[in-house]
Amino acid sequence: MKNNWHSSEKFNRQAADFDSNPRRTRIAEAVATAITKTVPLKGSTEGLEFGCGTGLVTMQVAPRLRHLTAIDTSHRMLGVLEGKLIASGIKNIETLCLDLSSAEDRRRLKAPYDFIYSSMTLHHIDSTAPFIGILFNMLSDGGTLAIADLDHEEGLFHDDPEEKVHPGFDRKKLTEMLEQAGFAGISFKTAHTVEKKNRAGVDASYPIFLLTAHKPPLISLSTFSSPRP
Ligand SMILES: C[S@@+](CC[C@H](N)C(=O)[O-])C[C@H]1O[C@@H](n2cnc3c(N)ncnc32)[C@H](O)[C@@H]1O
Repeated sequence: MKNNWHSSEKFNRQAADFDSNPRRTRIAEAVATAITKTVPLKGSTEGLEFGCGTGLVTMQVAPRLRHLTAIDTSHRMLGVLEGKLIASGIKNIETLCLDLSSAEDRRRLKAPYDFIYSSMTLHHIDSTAPFIGILFNMLSDGGTLAIADLDHEEGLFHDDPEEKVHPGFDRKKLTEMLEQAGFAGISFKTAHTVEKKNRAGVDASYPIFLLTAHKPPLISLSTFSSPRP
């Protein structure tokens, strides 16, 4: 599959000013806190973040990982993150400009990863169920997935009516897709609620979930071998 909802031009345009919107920094802060509280990240973890953008969540999660590959389809969003990496001296983050839904692009990655996560990106990817299958295949056995995104909304969250995005996600339907892909231990919590005037000019609340799930560990054959006489 390939993501037909190309958002890179929009994010290239927004990159320089992306972090100046306090709503975005509040979401990122809440999501990073929810991830670090929910997922037991060990220093040995090899992580992948898709749709890292300017690194608002990346910079908070990466210090808990051994190494993080941070990918995005917008080279300008990545450019802002790369500036932060130089300024901060953080060395365990590698950035790559690629589309995770493209098989050709995925060949540039060193899967499997122990931990794959994202914030506010899933709604920009058109075919959700096949994409979840891709995430499953890129995780190591026993690995963890964490995705933060909008709960299902009326389609008025985004200001541009022409923008191709999912209107958030129904938790039950997403759970079914995750189970179908093979995930276990699926759990949701509300990480944050955005209060904003929507495109129709109405003050509305938009909850953001954090879902976590595991790829089941491989059970060793020795588990089933008969006891020695
Ligand atoms: C709303 S921004 C969120 C950025 C960041 N995660 C944050 O929370 O501040 C969504 C990001 O996903 C990126 N993106 C969209 N589709 C993508 C794909 N198929 N693969 C990788 N990144 C993608 C966009 O370029 C953009 O930077």
